[in-house]
Amino acid sequence: MTTTNTARGILNVIPAVETLEGGGVPIRRAFPTQRFDYLDPFLLLDEMGPFELKSGQSTGFPDHPHRGFETVTYLLEGQMEHRDSFGHHGRLNPGDVQWMTAGSGLVHSEMPGAELVKNGGTLHGFQLWVNLPKRDKMTMPQYQELKAEQIPSAATPDGKVAVKVIAGEALGHHAAIGTHTPILYLHFTLQPGAVHVQEVPHSWNAFAYRIDTGDLTIFAKNADTVELINDSGKPIEILLIAGEPIGEAVARYGPFVMNSKEELYKAFEDYRAGRMGAI
Ligand code: CO
Repeated sequence: MTTTNTARGILNVIPAVETLEGGGVPIRRAFPTQRFDYLDPFLLLDEMGPFELKSGQSTGFPDHPHRGFETVTYLLEGQMEHRDSFGHHGRLNPGDVQWMTAGSGLVHSEMPGAELVKNGGTLHGFQLWVNLPKRDKMTMPQYQELKAEQIPSAATPDGKVAVKVIAGEALGHHAAIGTHTPILYLHFTLQPGAVHVQEVPHSWNAFAYRIDTGDLTIFAKNADTVELINDSGKPIEILLIAGEPIGEAVARYGPFVMNSKEELYKAFEDYRAGRMGAI
């Protein structure tokens, strides 16, 4: 991926780090890593798998809490089942998106779906953490759950650039999901030789994650467009994610992201006292 001098420059390209998360799910973590902490308002990006579940294997993310931000799960392959301490239950199939506002807090589990566990198969997807501004951190938990066919998609007439618009706008198509602060979350498929110029407001932070290589590209804030070019000989897939920085203090520990240490202690206390509920 390269860029020209009319679009934003590239600050850094950082390889994702392979690790295990939850109950032993192999992930590629784009950030936070030792080399890159976060890009306001984005706190984390994990690529889950792709990994093979054997028949009867139920490796996922068992019960854990969240407070103060949003988790965005985008499934490419397999099936995931979600439950939370308020009795919410949802299922994600390939192409589906769950935009969960944890807000004041909940306990949830994110596990492979029953069919996938029964038959075995591949699990592949993404989880992005989006910070909430102070005014929204203690909002009631809520969900936006979209089936693959509800995610707007578009392509250029020559078919070289195709996009799924999870948040924001691209190729004249608006996302169906609403966000607390302005966010762009786009999944591009670029055929060889494709060039796409994406408008990204000057003040926004922007990064791209290339799915086949696991490379995180951080863009400079020196222009109001990002240019994506596929100069390789094969199709490539890229998540382009950008957002208006919140610009507030970030106090984070594990599953809690607040503005101060005191608020983090309070989050732990509330979790331990069962005030975020149990499944
Ligand atoms: Co979670």
